[in-house]
Amino acid sequence: MDIPKISKQPAKFWGERLIKFKSVESTNDIARKMASLGEGNGTVILAGEQTGGKGRRDRAWFSPPGGLWFTVILRPDLPPVSLSGITLLFSLFIIEFLNKELEKSGVNTPLQLYWPNDIYFSEKKLGGILIESRCSDSSVKWLIAGIGININNEEKNFPSLLNAVSLNSITKRRFAIRSLLKRMLVSLENGYNGFIENGFSKFISKISDICPMINRVIEITDPDGLKTIYKTLGIGESGQLIVLDSAGQKKEIITAERTKLIYEKLMQ
Ligand code: BTN
Repeated sequence: MDIPKISKQPAKFWGERLIKFKSVESTNDIARKMASLGEGNGTVILAGEQTGGKGRRDRAWFSPPGGLWFTVILRPDLPPVSLSGITLLFSLFIIEFLNKELEKSGVNTPLQLYWPNDIYFSEKKLGGILIESRCSDSSVKWLIAGIGININNEEKNFPSLLNAVSLNSITKRRFAIRSLLKRMLVSLENGYNGFIENGFSKFISKISDICPMINRVIEITDPDGLKTIYKTLGIGESGQLIVLDSAGQKKEIITAERTKLIYEKLMQ
């Protein structure tokens, strides 16, 4: 993997230093290597396509030309514990930004966040976020936020098992990816600065509003493949899902392989 020359200078704004690859295995791989060599805060790695795109839990991420595949390198001055809700925050900021883009194209159906990191439109996946970090006991050394959104890549070309959708198939128009990225980075940076100033808890109610899993009966598949039915009560101070199991015991779910709605109706 050829790594670009490292600049330790923080960018004035996210994407001021934008490193673009036509084709790369994974922007997260490049960003992880650059971050560990000291690359400054705010650098963005962008790819026209990824040949080995990565999703959560080591899954492959289909990343053909026409999508938006990028990773931001960040160096927050935070204790590691503050990062627990960061995936939800990025999902929130991306959804808020993309909802405005959809509205501009006359689409008023809002995107949804399937806890913990999936961006959905009408039960089909539009994008996802893969956060990685390196921490010492007391501080975060670096954080990389890898973001993948299907934009102009056409739904008919998706592998059928993916159940995916793109902005193009939702709106029937093509998007200028570089200008969309520029605007998205402004929104993400503003949202992230709000989190740095105010902490995670200020965003819990906004996250709950876009998450259809809250106050429902859902099936959670845990990382070992075990499926359990829960009632969801809400999102906790660290981004965990607070649930009741069938015995009425309160539990906190930190991660899941998959979450699936069982009943569409709100519980009383
Ligand atoms: C997921 O939903 O599982 C997360 C998908 C994250 C995909 C993005 S695309 C840009 C960056 N590079 C990668 O290899 N993965 C992330």
